[in-house]
Amino acid sequence: MSVDANRQPGADDRADRRRFQTVRGTNDTLPDDQPYWDWVRGAAQDVARRFGFRRIDTPVLEETALFLRTIGEGTDIVEKEMYTFRDRGEDLLTLRPEGTAPVCRAYIQHGMRTLPQPVRAFYITPIFRYERPQSGRLRQHYQFGAEAIGDASPEIDAEVIHLLWSLLEELGLGNLTLHLNSIGDADCRPRYLDALRGYYAGRLADVCDDCHTRYEKNPLRLLDCKQERCQPSIQGAPTPAEGLCADCADHFDTLRSVLDLWGIPYRISPTLVRGLDYYTRTVFEVHPQAEGSQTALGAGGRYDGLIAQLGGPPTPGVGFGSGIERIIMNLRSAGLTPPAGLAPQPDVYIVYLGQAAHTHALRLSAALRGAGLSVSLSTGHRSLRAQLRAAGTADARYALILGDDEIGRGAATLRLLETGDQRDVPLDAEAVRRAVTD
Ligand code: HAM
Repeated sequence: MSVDANRQPGADDRADRRRFQTVRGTNDTLPDDQPYWDWVRGAAQDVARRFGFRRIDTPVLEETALFLRTIGEGTDIVEKEMYTFRDRGEDLLTLRPEGTAPVCRAYIQHGMRTLPQPVRAFYITPIFRYERPQSGRLRQHYQFGAEAIGDASPEIDAEVIHLLWSLLEELGLGNLTLHLNSIGDADCRPRYLDALRGYYAGRLADVCDDCHTRYEKNPLRLLDCKQERCQPSIQGAPTPAEGLCADCADHFDTLRSVLDLWGIPYRISPTLVRGLDYYTRTVFEVHPQAEGSQTALGAGGRYDGLIAQLGGPPTPGVGFGSGIERIIMNLRSAGLTPPAGLAPQPDVYIVYLGQAAHTHALRLSAALRGAGLSVSLSTGHRSLRAQLRAAGTADARYALILGDDEIGRGAATLRLLETGDQRDVPLDAEAVRRAVTD
């Protein structure tokens, strides 16, 4: 369908009086919700800073091929979930369905291999996936993600896990489970996949249709099937960790010993393989206590082949992504609220009665805002009571009351709303500012 944005509204449009809603699976973040967002984003940026990660922002749009080549052709994201379209220049573009491939593209494009390695970068960014929406599963969600590119050592895997773990703990989310696994590398994985295929060859009659496709195209994902009928086969299957080569096994051992040293508890989940194809060696997910298939608060792993897949020099990498909406859902259900000070509270609510007072109120509001105070100015011509009620609803600290009497005295009344205590202050912005900030 072609749409002419400049077209004048016609009779059809005028007859269409339905109320518009957010697109399915997307949310408005209303002003009342913002303190939670400020809290989580602020905590994420603070933890990232302490771990030496610097911010990176990449465009929402990328060439579709970037994701086809990295996430993998047989995955749900690529097969069913990407928002892909041709733009007016016939380029095939996709709204970012994950954050890692764009960061790796940027690493190559901007020659970041000449910087000290690893390059530690984090992002807070919208992600788009055409999923079946349900609680905690959205078509547009925000991810806090961190990537460490250019270092193959297991200490870096431990570091990114520690970063995610610290964020969730510092926000107050307890009872978390870190699931950990290693899925091998380009050396040992082919041998393991042969063993896995061999195991499934005699069991294809017992598994779902999707698993038949996985068997052909992407056997590792057989272990990730959620269908009831496939669970017995998964339980008896050889696990990736059993097939690790010596280097991968060493890497996994060292990672676990660093996590032990830092007191980060984990559970080895032998069938954890993740839904993106670029992973090598370490994979992990953090879940809250209430288990379920869509509950991961954050997840990630190592992707040592990804940069080479994109045409860059062979460069290792490891990182995670964490859904901000899911974190906020868990904070709310645990009864955790943002620290005081994140909900904006006007310092002063200016109340006026009469024309002369109104002019003074307009002048004072501008001067006080210029001096750095948060000021709400009453509007219209309401009774003193109605205006003071509005000041209370706005959660202002002070009401500054201007009336004929006060103006005659060259003063205003400053009332501390919490206690009702009040006093006169000179009708002068600097005097009011001092009285409010003292
Ligand atoms: P992912 O597991 O697809 O990994 O997503 C990471 C996190 O994003 C999930 O654990 C979850 O918290 C959140 N998330 C994912 N999909 C949704 C959704 N539809 N609605 C709400 N939240 C969601 C990745 O995207 C990888 N790029 C992570 C990574 C970074 N691996 C290495 N570096």
